[in-house]
Amino acid sequence: MRGLLELPRPIKRLIPPQIKRSARSAVLSYMFRQAMRDVAKLAPGEMPSRELLKKLRMGWDNQGWDAKLDYMEEILRRALETKGPVLECGSGLTTLLLGQLAGRRGVETWSLEHNAEWHGRVSSALARHRVQGVHLCFAPLRDYQEFNWYDPPLAEMPARFSLVICDGPPDLANGGRYGLLPVLGDRLAPGTVILFDDVREPGQPEVLRRWETERGVNVELRETEEVSFALVTCP
Ligand SMILES: C[S@@+](CC[C@H](N)C(=O)[O-])C[C@H]1O[C@@H](n2cnc3c(N)ncnc32)[C@H](O)[C@@H]1O
Repeated sequence: MRGLLELPRPIKRLIPPQIKRSARSAVLSYMFRQAMRDVAKLAPGEMPSRELLKKLRMGWDNQGWDAKLDYMEEILRRALETKGPVLECGSGLTTLLLGQLAGRRGVETWSLEHNAEWHGRVSSALARHRVQGVHLCFAPLRDYQEFNWYDPPLAEMPARFSLVICDGPPDLANGGRYGLLPVLGDRLAPGTVILFDDVREPGQPEVLRRWETERGVNVELRETEEVSFALVTCP
């Protein structure tokens, strides 16, 4: 199946673009279905291999937006261990994998998504791959005066979260990800870790500094060759 992506160039040039796009999409969907099946077959507590994560990212086909491998591995390692609910800000492939690894241990994931179209795509994928234990909430961005952030369904959400994946909202203007602690900080148990992506993007270091000063969080930077993220621990 994958061979279709690897045809010699002169032959590829003869294929009309529409057919090429459909073939590529069919191959990637097939690859993704197979990879999701492999995830479902993992033993309880077993981490997906790096090869499997690469296949999942390729099949999901959202390059430039999905979590990099080192960040994803950190998320999944913690999803396998966390005792309480997971909060995710910004949905995507990670939402499906949180469901597969934490959801089947009986640990719920609450994922906030502000973009209606993207919410639709992730929602269909959750249903198609029968992922359990995920509440994907459509939460448009709201003006909180000092910043813009998601408008989450607070009354329905758990009183305490034990792990947070902070990978949204993608627009870092108007406070960016700052709103997480003012809006939901009182639901984060002491010791809860926030996995905060894109630390080098404009505005992000300021968010971390403000959280340190105003909320007393501890920030530890993780820099790898492919990604920079922060482990933010709540007091
Ligand atoms: C960095 S993405 C979150 C990705 C997710 N944590 C993952 O690794 O799969 C953050 C937000 O970007 C937006 N987004 C994701 N893919 C997009 C796309 N292809 N085009 C436009 N917005 C997108 C969604 O609103 C999403 O909540």
